[in-house]
Amino acid sequence: MTFTLKDAKKNLSRPITMIGMMGTGKTHMGKLLAKKLAWPFFDSDHLVEEKAGCSVAEIFELWGEEKFRESEARTIQGLTSMKRCVIATGGGAIMNEETAEAIFKHSYAVWVQADIDTILKRVSKNKNRPLLACENPKDVLQKLMEKRQDIYAKAHFTIDSSSVNDEDAALALLEEIYQSAMQEAL
Ligand code: S3P
Repeated sequence: MTFTLKDAKKNLSRPITMIGMMGTGKTHMGKLLAKKLAWPFFDSDHLVEEKAGCSVAEIFELWGEEKFRESEARTIQGLTSMKRCVIATGGGAIMNEETAEAIFKHSYAVWVQADIDTILKRVSKNKNRPLLACENPKDVLQKLMEKRQDIYAKAHFTIDSSSVNDEDAALALLEEIYQSAMQEAL
């Protein structure tokens, strides 16, 4: 079946949800997909920050990780009930069972991948990741990855965020999602 962005815009009717470790480029890739489809883009961390009126790091400090996770879960579960949008989730969001179920059942889940050294380079400039504000962020990242990877692996699609041309990678991913959705509909 031939693929055009126009067909994808019209015929895809589930959100596309980016999952994966912090610093893999979920927001960047998500924004590219949303732009191509002319769909709205949502970043769960930003929505949680907007509701709280402060940064993720401040939420952790003032109210603790548990409160952050509750707000994150409510936010993402709400977004997955939409028809057409692209959602970038925080790296730990899928550890909430109901959130994972909502993502895998009601959206096209895309696992954005990058190796630990690439992630470390990307996150080193940003202080808004409280879980990595420690002596050995590489160790923390490795342990989090071990805990999470079986759930990330349930994603319907994967994309390598270190690809040479992001635009081409985004287009190829949309074609893959479209072809798979059309097959499912048959
Ligand atoms: C987290 C990832 C962060 C943010 C919070 C916790 C995690 O989002 O939600 O710092 O547990 O992996 P990004 O994946 O967008 O960095």
